Amino acid sequence: MTPPDITEEIVVPNHSAAVLRTPRARLHVDSVATPEPREGEVLVRVRAVAVNPVDWVIQGTGSMTYRWLRGPAVLGSDVAGEVVAVGPGVSRFRPGDRVFGLATGTDRGRDPLREGAFQEVTVLLERLAAPIPDGMSDEEAAVLPLAVSTAACALFQPAHLGLPLPEPGRPVSAERGVVVVWGGSTSVGMNAVQLARAAGYDVVSTASPRNAALVRSLGADVVVDHHSPGAVDDLVAGIAGRRVVGAIALGPTSAEACLAVLRRTGGTALALASTPVSLADLAGRRRLLPGGLAVFARIGLASVTSALRARRAGVRSRFIWGSSLRDDDLGPALWGTLLPAGLADGTLKSVPEPLVVGSGLDAVQPALDRQREGVSAQKIVVRL
Ligand SMILES: NC(=O)c1ccc[n+]([C@@H]2O[C@H](COP(=O)([O-])OP(=O)(O)OC[C@H]3O[C@@H](n4cnc5c(N)ncnc54)[C@H](OP(=O)(O)O)[C@@H]3O)[C@@H](O)[C@H]2O)c1
Repeated sequence: MTPPDITEEIVVPNHSAAVLRTPRARLHVDSVATPEPREGEVLVRVRAVAVNPVDWVIQGTGSMTYRWLRGPAVLGSDVAGEVVAVGPGVSRFRPGDRVFGLATGTDRGRDPLREGAFQEVTVLLERLAAPIPDGMSDEEAAVLPLAVSTAACALFQPAHLGLPLPEPGRPVSAERGVVVVWGGSTSVGMNAVQLARAAGYDVVSTASPRNAALVRSLGADVVVDHHSPGAVDDLVAGIAGRRVVGAIALGPTSAEACLAVLRRTGGTALALASTPVSLADLAGRRRLLPGGLAVFARIGLASVTSALRARRAGVRSRFIWGSSLRDDDLGPALWGTLLPAGLADGTLKSVPEPLVVGSGLDAVQPALDRQREGVSAQKIVVRL
């Protein structure tokens, strides 16, 4: 008797997806063509997805930001599921493996229908995927991909802090200096704290008081309240003369705050993750114009002012693109080595905690709306 073909289940022409049919439309569950995996790709039956701010930013700001996404498109970066087929050259996965990874379909030049997360079946790149460890649920795995990738870009890419990668098994040393993570209780921030610590750096960070213990448990030795007017002073005091190797700025006011810390401590590298003005209100509006123009003008002005201030202070400041590790050595280093080893030996954890808000593709749009309202140290997750 021939063994059952494990790919049989999905060798069907179509599957369902939560589709952005046109810029700014609500997501609609449509039938889309099921792709075949190409060189270096794995086809995944998606079991859980997580929602990031960028998902509602793309949806809500339409052609003012992701101009190349004219629709139809499938949004979403965070995938956990099961491999159903592999393309040529794939060596780390085979059908039946549980896998999680970063979907990059919304990036310029990618295919947002083949590679978006919010669908029953999607394509992941082998170089941006890892096995889900035994004992970890799909929901726990789904919280990591974009957050840990963005944190890794900030810490390790030469354009940002450019720190040496952690070496699994090497004991943590406090001699290398301090990383400042403003917004340590964001998804990206929590991952930045634990990755920086795993790389042997001390970490000082910020969070609301209710999340301070959590951020400390991930490795920050100082956590101050980012809502406090004295936050910058408190961080500088907490650094206590240690060498600062750079700062990661998460949250709308974080760039100026981090710059102030770097100026006073001599740090010279600033990795920026957030727009200086939140896009949450704009993305929720029924009409984008004319209000959108004013918001983007404020963002432009604030960005230029902040860049000039940084330059004058001798600080190299650049925006992070969290999926840019797809195209450099950091992608395979993180997803092929660091993340599997760190999750196995406990130096890295699945953070933040998943908040499962529903099941099925119909639950994805409400999940985006829920994320836009704001979360605190949790990641919105939908089971598929
Ligand atoms: N450039 C990129 O490639 C990239 C990729 C991913 C994310 N991002 C951006 O990075 C930022 C974080 O994303 P995320 O998904 O990690 O966010 P998130 O998990 O949704 O962030 C929620 C957290 O924001 C924190 N927060 C509230 N006010 C803050 C403040 N004034 N300063 C710092 N943190 C504050 C809250 O902490 P408390 O509850 O403790 O106050 C809350 O836990 C967003 O701006 C996002 O758009 C950029």
